[in-house]
Amino acid sequence: MTKQRYLLPLLASLFIEASAQVPSVIDIDLASHGDKVYPTMYGAFFEEISHAGDGGLYAEMIQNRGFEEGVIPSGCTLENDEVWAPKKPCYTTDKVNNWHIRWNAERKAMQAWTVEAEMGRADYEITTDKPLNDATPHALRLKLNNEQGLVTVKNSGYWGIGTKAGESYDLRFFTNAEKPVNVKAQLIDEQGTISKSIYMKCTPMNSWEEHKVVIRADRTSGKAQLAITFEGEGNVLLDYVSLFPQHTYNNRPNGLRADIAQYLIDMHPSFLRWPGGCILEGINMENAVDWKKTLGDPVQRPGEYDLWGYRNTYGFGYHEFLQFCEDAKIDPMYVCNAGMSCLFRGGDYVEGEELQEMIQDCLNAIEYAIGDQSTYWGHQRALNGHPEPFPLRYVEIGNENVGPRYAEHYKLFRDAIRKKYPQLEIICALMFHPETPDCGDMDLFDPHYYENADWFYRAAYIFDNIPSQYTSNIYIGEYAAGGANMYAALAEAAFLTGCERNGERVRMTSFAPLFQNIHNGTRHLICYDNSQVFGRSNYHVVKMLNENRPDYNLTTKIKREPSVLCGNMMDGKVGLATYGNDVEFRDFKLEYVFGDVKTSENPATDTANWTTEMDGNNRFYWFKHEGNVAYDISFRMKKNSGKEACRVIFGGADIKNFYMADIGSHQNESTIFGERTDGDYTNFFTYRNVESIEQGRWYNVRVKVGMSNWQIYLDDRLVEDYRYDFALERHYAVSGMDETTGEVIVKLVNGENSPWPVKLNLNGTKAKVFAAHRTTLASDSPKAENSIDNPELIIPKEDDIEISESPITLPANSFTILRIQR
Ligand code: AHR
Repeated sequence: MTKQRYLLPLLASLFIEASAQVPSVIDIDLASHGDKVYPTMYGAFFEEISHAGDGGLYAEMIQNRGFEEGVIPSGCTLENDEVWAPKKPCYTTDKVNNWHIRWNAERKAMQAWTVEAEMGRADYEITTDKPLNDATPHALRLKLNNEQGLVTVKNSGYWGIGTKAGESYDLRFFTNAEKPVNVKAQLIDEQGTISKSIYMKCTPMNSWEEHKVVIRADRTSGKAQLAITFEGEGNVLLDYVSLFPQHTYNNRPNGLRADIAQYLIDMHPSFLRWPGGCILEGINMENAVDWKKTLGDPVQRPGEYDLWGYRNTYGFGYHEFLQFCEDAKIDPMYVCNAGMSCLFRGGDYVEGEELQEMIQDCLNAIEYAIGDQSTYWGHQRALNGHPEPFPLRYVEIGNENVGPRYAEHYKLFRDAIRKKYPQLEIICALMFHPETPDCGDMDLFDPHYYENADWFYRAAYIFDNIPSQYTSNIYIGEYAAGGANMYAALAEAAFLTGCERNGERVRMTSFAPLFQNIHNGTRHLICYDNSQVFGRSNYHVVKMLNENRPDYNLTTKIKREPSVLCGNMMDGKVGLATYGNDVEFRDFKLEYVFGDVKTSENPATDTANWTTEMDGNNRFYWFKHEGNVAYDISFRMKKNSGKEACRVIFGGADIKNFYMADIGSHQNESTIFGERTDGDYTNFFTYRNVESIEQGRWYNVRVKVGMSNWQIYLDDRLVEDYRYDFALERHYAVSGMDETTGEVIVKLVNGENSPWPVKLNLNGTKAKVFAAHRTTLASDSPKAENSIDNPELIIPKEDDIEISESPITLPANSFTILRIQR
């Protein structure tokens, strides 16, 4: 950060200049035997977000196949074009969240569909008059008449339908006609027809008729549409129009896109988590994923509005998930709702008998997976075509939950599951939270990290010193570095070296979100459109790590020169900022370490001491006096509106460059330190605390800015204590032993935009020269990333090299894995 002033800056810069040329020495102790790295380490997290299933892994090609897209989320109400969650108290605050979103039912209902008449305007509407079944009550009614001529209904799929020349597709749809009607189905694109036309008739009058035909594509196209043309008179209802490639992964019916499934399998995930994510919590309890409704004939599956902005067909359901895991030899992880909905949405919860029903529902889901056929749900599984149990291994109770109410629910679920299914591994959804140790028995708990890249570099060592109260093993169920580029992928790689080094405690990780249709989403691991699939650079990081997992770690030390930097002076502007919300401040004090004190009664009115500046909706109050060396900032504060509370600024240059104590950060979950550099925010914390700010309550806030230690006190209680290391390290190394091959596996992360010369010392052997196989993922630019137009810009390259006493040079922006033969 440019504004920061170091002690001994000249000496520091000389050291940095010189060290750029000198190879780092990495000592690897071959006789050591560090933490085991479990085969479970790298898995995958599935959630229906960014068209992960619908428009992604799930091979259905028709979007909005049942005309149900306009249906509002279960349990919600529609008020003046807004959908509102039930006004029930949230499980963390006991207050109503008043969650709502805008809703345009009419536009949504016809999503991906168009209707065209040969002559004039086509006459049609969405109706619930004669439901095909309870799951798909809406249908498209065409009012055919002679004046319109032929009427064609088209579906554009998920941003076009992807066809392949010579491949066959199963078309299934239902009609209900008043009079006999001729029907023609074909695939078309901008250049015309791309399949032979299939002719059918709607014969039965006023009852539903199912049509099943096969369409063969003559041409490969990424922009195809399905066109169904009607010729006749009178009303015709059309519903549940489904088009599936005949070739799916493992050729399963209602199956998965083979290319996407294979791409995931090629990453070798040891486990797959389903169904999420926030969607298993739901906007409210009724909106949460209901596994039972995801079973059976897809035409009988109602689907549900997905809180990520579109309707989930439930096509990639519980059975398909378990089947895929079995086929691909991946351990399934089922996640149940813990009796509470997402606290960022409605956040309602159940208690008493309703909670017992939820617990039973979770046991039923487990029974569906592993109960034998004599059990009710085991029998249902057999009826669905799978008599033998599926290999369910893990159950997570809830997702990203917080607080004592969750802890109580967790214990009830856990006890019931342990009693009936002691063989399962149980995951607690709490992170590093005060309640986590109190929950007692758990196999793993599940911290999530969505931070920026620099946080991930800094966090490479956090698991070396896990606070002693957290005794259970760790599953990092979701992580992703912001930035979506090579710099972020390398930051994640650095972080994962720390996970491997502490593999006895960090047993499992999964990046999130996993899948992304390129038309919806920004930073996921595996991306695709309707015809192509590719991995972002961090997909290759995880794949490389999985393919080169050692059995145990070897002690690995990068010899760094002792730091000549001895602290930093937080000179610079001091102030307060709000997040477009209403916060009152009183009794502001800036106390310098040398004894001087500057005060102000109220920043909003004391114009002699403060200036105001706006950054979008965010208001900055700049104090007249600057911070100098080390100091305390204290004041009283009351938040009157908004989720987050305020930011205490120090060491500032301007509104885009400063350090801060973020009071009520992460949507009011935490109170932590951070910085803003050229407009980008970075959070500083090792284990994020749970310190939210209540609305309407006065707090005494004190921020102590030391030269390397910063603290935040709320009402005289220390809530955050952070050691600020201003040198951001971007060189990381970890190594381990592959017991099967006898190879030493060395992983090296170079997050710098310059080459890294490295000299490897393999201590504990007399040999001086070793043959090694090298896999390198590198990019010319830290900002580069793979894309649909350039999907292989950053992919691993392999070669064989010799490791000797001479240093090797790792490319700029690279992740290198060496398999060294001894
Ligand atoms: O990965 C997207 C979302 O991020 C998940 O649903 C949720 O668990 C997290 O907040």
